[in-house]
Amino acid sequence: MAIDIYLSQEKIQSRILELAQEINKDYADKSLHIIGILNGAFMFTADLVRHLTMPVTLEFMSASSYGDGTVSTGELKINLDIKSDIRSKHVLIVEDIVDTGLTLTVLKKNLGNRKPASLKLASFLFKPARLEHKVDIDYLAFEIEDHFVIGYGLDYAGRYRELPYVGIYRPEGDA
Ligand code: PRP
Repeated sequence: MAIDIYLSQEKIQSRILELAQEINKDYADKSLHIIGILNGAFMFTADLVRHLTMPVTLEFMSASSYGDGTVSTGELKINLDIKSDIRSKHVLIVEDIVDTGLTLTVLKKNLGNRKPASLKLASFLFKPARLEHKVDIDYLAFEIEDHFVIGYGLDYAGRYRELPYVGIYRPEGDA
């Protein structure tokens, strides 16, 4: 198995600092409730929050959408829910990747129904080639081409999440 580095650790860290500065400006006079989406977003969430300057509260949630990727039933399977009431809070969802857009479409609807003061989305990656459900991403670190990417939270069969960079996964034998 060979891993080609696609986004280096340095490039990721400097882009996250830029994003955090934008978020700091937008929420300068507010508190922010961060919801990191497990598993993939654990690393992006941890690195992003280190640079935030407003009062922050943080929770994680795990959810996936029902459907086959093209047909959304609009239902959300919540594997782990947040414990707090987000009514009247400024909420920022932090995700690792928007691929078809299905998960985030239904997740945003679910969290929006809980009546937060505002609801925005930060995503580490966005793969426009695969998009089927349009999602507004308020803070995006990188738009990427249609590669199978691993590392920095993203897995292949549960592995490689710990890598500090994003690589392109090529199975053994691929040129
Ligand atoms: C990934 C990612 C998003 C979703 C995006 O999660 O974290 O939640 O897929 O795909 P979509 O835009 O096509 O809906 P995954 O189900 O792989 O779980 P993981 O974060 O635990 O790896």
